[in-house]
This record gives sequence, structure tokens and C-alpha cells, in this order.
Amino acid sequence: MKLSQAVFAERRQRLMQKMTANSLAIIPAAQMQSRNSDVEYPFRQDSDFYYLTGFNEPDAVLLLLPERDAGNTVMFCRNRDPLMEIWNGYRAGPEGVEAEYGMAEGHPVEQIDELLPQLLDGVERIYYAIGQDEQLDQQIRHWLNLIRGQARQGAVAPSELVMLDHLLHEMRLFKQPEEQDLMRRAGEISAQGHIRAMQYCRPGVYEYQLEAEILHYFMQQGCRQPAYSSIVGGGANACVLHYIENSEPLMEGDLVLIDAGCELDYYAGDITRTFPVSGRFSPEQKALYELVLQAQLHCIEMIRPGVLWNAVHEASVQVLTEGLVALGLLQGEVAELIEQGAYRDFYMHRAGHWLGMDVHDVGDYKVDDEWRPLEPGMVMTVEPGLYVAADNQAVEPRWRGIGIRIEDDVLITPEGCEVLTAAVPKHVADIEALMAAQ
Ligand code: GLY
Ligand code: MN
Ligand code: MN
Repeated sequence: MKLSQAVFAERRQRLMQKMTANSLAIIPAAQMQSRNSDVEYPFRQDSDFYYLTGFNEPDAVLLLLPERDAGNTVMFCRNRDPLMEIWNGYRAGPEGVEAEYGMAEGHPVEQIDELLPQLLDGVERIYYAIGQDEQLDQQIRHWLNLIRGQARQGAVAPSELVMLDHLLHEMRLFKQPEEQDLMRRAGEISAQGHIRAMQYCRPGVYEYQLEAEILHYFMQQGCRQPAYSSIVGGGANACVLHYIENSEPLMEGDLVLIDAGCELDYYAGDITRTFPVSGRFSPEQKALYELVLQAQLHCIEMIRPGVLWNAVHEASVQVLTEGLVALGLLQGEVAELIEQGAYRDFYMHRAGHWLGMDVHDVGDYKVDDEWRPLEPGMVMTVEPGLYVAADNQAVEPRWRGIGIRIEDDVLITPEGCEVLTAAVPKHVADIEALMAAQ
């Protein structure tokens, strides 16, 4: 599944319509990152750059010039190079970005220092996400100084540098129908990966083996990488929120928490499930699990256009605090406990985040200092959790070391919401039935 070039071209035009007259946007590609010695990490394009180009090479810079008569899209990229291509793979080259990626002009990246000052001359405003690419930050400063130095010859340097993020990230926050299809598929693949791990799980299996089951499935479906490092935590490891060592054996009687999602053509899935290693919940595990599930279902139930972003989190806090009091893990008045933040000993993260090309996706959560209302086309996660630290002396020993999170991905629709990751079971009876069937 890949988005067509028409989708990327339309995004570029839409962004340019939002830019002011006589402006220019500079959007750099990601760089290769060294891993060790001469080995590099697998290349992952920058999400903003990919969103506007579909172009999957490093060492490139996209320019958008809304009013340029000679063409409003310019890309600097690596030249074609038969020898380098034999070693390192195909390059589109400047001709390729014109022919295959819809650019009005492609140029070798080596020419950027020569051509950019010419293109900047007379531009009033530059849109650029300063602070993310140190080398390009310096180059831009250099180009601006060059133009300023030619003022007496009539050159006019831009007077404003504006972060591009706001315009672009507001676009990325609302998923187009093509993106929704991709995210539906990413949700489905992620869900099936989790089912595979549940089926494989039994005492004595190592955490990394469950990770391997999931990654195997993702890759079989064409997802070369997960959207983020998979978390597989047995027992009290589930209380370490970003536990990615995944190195220990799973023990009879423990729960295991898996937080894993695939990346499909640059779109993320993000699912967490927590289930018993040996297939059946203990009474304490079940009590806490049912509480987290109740909070999660309640949040999903309330999600529809117009609901404020933070209302979902607040609802999860309400349900979890009430439940913690009912189970005896917290003592006191629910309203006061919420006021004091007492639940934070057990629930120290938020109920969700935007989801898209980045797992913690871009987009403002507040507008004019107010929590923003949900709108159709947004995608968010819903992921309440409870984590009872193994050394929490304030609760009875039987609760200690239990960590639970349940996470699904949700598309806001005009009527309510669609759960993109519904295929993986989360009700106690369904999980126990799936695991018993092995
Ligand atoms: N996997 C990261 C998160 O759930 O936010
Ligand atoms: Mn998440
Ligand atoms: Mn997650």
C-alpha cells in the first residue's frame, strides 16, 4: 500500500495556499545515522519531508515557492552515481525527482549553496523549522548574510523566519481518506501481530521471543520496521513504562504487557495488550485489569466530535480513581484524591496522544490556550493503565508488581469514532479463550 504521487502533489499545493505571498518554505530530508563503525541505522525519512514528497532518500531539501513563475517546487537531491548505486542502491537523481516525484525542478544537492541565495533574493518570509538540522541552520544563516552583503547591489534579504510546523502539522493532524485506509491497515496488522504473540506465549518463553513473533508478522506483511521499539514486559517489568530490554523469561502466574505497533508506508499502529503468561488471570490481576478495561471502554465510548481533548484523560482519571478506592488501593474521597493527584502513583501517563506518521504524532493539543475539541479525521490512542510498583508499601503485597495498560487506536468520525485495532481481544473471557485454544 503506497500513497500515489497525486496525494503528495495535492498536499504541497494545499500547504502553499496557506503560505503568505512572497514566501519560501525549506524542508530538509532526514540524514543517515551512524550506528557503529561503518554500519548505519536503517534509513527512515523525516515525516514532514515524506508527507510532502513521498521521496525516500537522504541528503535532499525541498523548497516550496508559491509564486515562482518558473515552477513552485524545487528539490535538491543526490546526483545519480553508477558506482554508488551498485554499492548502496538506487537514486532518483535530479531528473528522477522531476519525472517521478512531480518536482518543477531538480538540482544536485551540491549546488544548493550556489542556487539558494538567488532563490531567496526578494523573498520576504522563510518558513523553516529551525533547530532540527544544525548544518542547514548554519547554511541558511550563511545565505542570509550573503544576500545582506549584497544590499548595495539591490539584493533584499528575507525579513521574517517563521516555523513551518504550525501550518504543516495542522494538515498532518487531519487524516485524509487515503491515510485513514493506511492507518486501518496498520491497525489490523498490528492487531494480528499481538494475536500471534498471545498464541505463542507460555511460561518460560523469553520476552524477546514474543517481540520476535510480532516483528515476524509485521515484516511478513511488508512493514520493514515497527513504528517504535516494542515493549514486552513480564511481571513487574510492565511497571517500567518504556521497558525495551525485553530480555527476561516469562513466569507462570505473571502478566505480560506488550506495547507494539507496525509502521506501514510511514503510518503507525500503536497497541498495548496485557495478558496472563499462563492464560488465566489471578483474582488481583483480573480486578485491576477489569478496572483499566472499564476506563478504556468508557473513554472510547465518549469519543466523538466536540469532546475536548483533555476530557478523555479526565474521564480515565475519574474511573481509575473510583476503582482504586473500591479495591482499597487508595483511601479517601474520590474528588479529593483526584484533586491531590493521588492516582499518579498508579497512573503516571496520559490517556492518549495523536497518532499518524509519528507514533506521538504532531498537532497542537491546545488552541488559544484551551484544550481543543476532537474533530473528524483525527486519530488518537486511548491507553489508560495502572502500575503498582513492586516496592509500593502503601498497598497490600498481593497487588504489588502488577502493571497493566490497554491501548487502541481510534479514528474520530462524524458520528463518533472507529476503533482501528479492534481485532485483538481485550475482554478477559476472550483473551483466556484465545490462549486456551493453543
Ligand atoms: N508506544 C508508545 C506509546 O504508547 O505512547
Ligand atoms: Mn501510545
Ligand atoms: Mn503504545
